[in-house]
Amino acid sequence: MKIALVTGGSGKIGSKIVLHLLNEGYEVVTTYFHSENKIEQLLKLNSNSSKNLFLVKCDLSNKAEIDDLLNQFKTKYNSLDLMINCAGIFHKNEFEKIDEHEYDYVMNINLKSVYFLVQKFQSLMSENSVIINFSSVGGIIPWKNRSLYHISKAGIIALTRSLALELAPKIRVVSIAPGFIETDSEIDEKMPLSKIPLRRYGKIENILQTIDFLIKNDYLTGITIPVDGGRSII
Ligand SMILES: NC(=O)c1ccc[n+]([C@@H]2O[C@H](COP(=O)([O-])OP(=O)(O)OC[C@H]3O[C@@H](n4cnc5c(N)ncnc54)[C@H](OP(=O)(O)O)[C@@H]3O)[C@@H](O)[C@H]2O)c1
Repeated sequence: MKIALVTGGSGKIGSKIVLHLLNEGYEVVTTYFHSENKIEQLLKLNSNSSKNLFLVKCDLSNKAEIDDLLNQFKTKYNSLDLMINCAGIFHKNEFEKIDEHEYDYVMNINLKSVYFLVQKFQSLMSENSVIINFSSVGGIIPWKNRSLYHISKAGIIALTRSLALELAPKIRVVSIAPGFIETDSEIDEKMPLSKIPLRRYGKIENILQTIDFLIKNDYLTGITIPVDGGRSII
């Protein structure tokens, strides 16, 4: 049995990743923070009963809670085959209004959490295991009023390269930079199609296909794959 840790299982993309991995035969540990209702929906969607899905409430912006997540994980498992760091916030604010607290919060959840999750869990990871981080097209190109988001997601691309070097040859570290991905949920702010060369939004299947590819291709490490319909080339 293969074990996966997926952060942000209560999120739009994270929940679909969890269901996909359960279908692929993984046992999955996933995290949520505020969205109790969404994580309960995920439990209901898991047709295989809840035996293969383990939920942990955790504020990933707080390093002590990452330590606690590791302790909870260890009560159930002693090894890890796949880690997907999907939790994150799509933060927006005007540059002039951002204060230190806000700066720290965005960096803590989008960037620092991934660094310490990898540091804490790497000793449990098996030979040839994989860590997949979530960057964003917004980490490749900056947008107005999204400076903290851009910097934190650009940091994920750098973190992926840096930690790939730290953890080679045992563990591969890669990342995905999604463009605008359509999910079932309501989105308040859509990217104009005129800015996407392929003139369509991405689908969750495009993310799942990329995850499958990154797991399977064992000669990839340190890379970030934009899954963005070409948004990052213009
Ligand atoms: N959707 C897109 O089109 C798109 C595009 C580019 C990049 N991405 C990246 O892909 C990833 C998933 O995106 P999404 O659209 O699925 O996001 P989402 O629906 O907003 O979900 C975000 C997830 O992060 C968790 N989270 C937020 N703050 C947290 C904290 N302090 N501690 C622990 N968990 C926390 C949320 O948990 P709770 O809700 O339970 O608090 C939720 O599970 C993110 O990293 C995002 O930046 C998405």
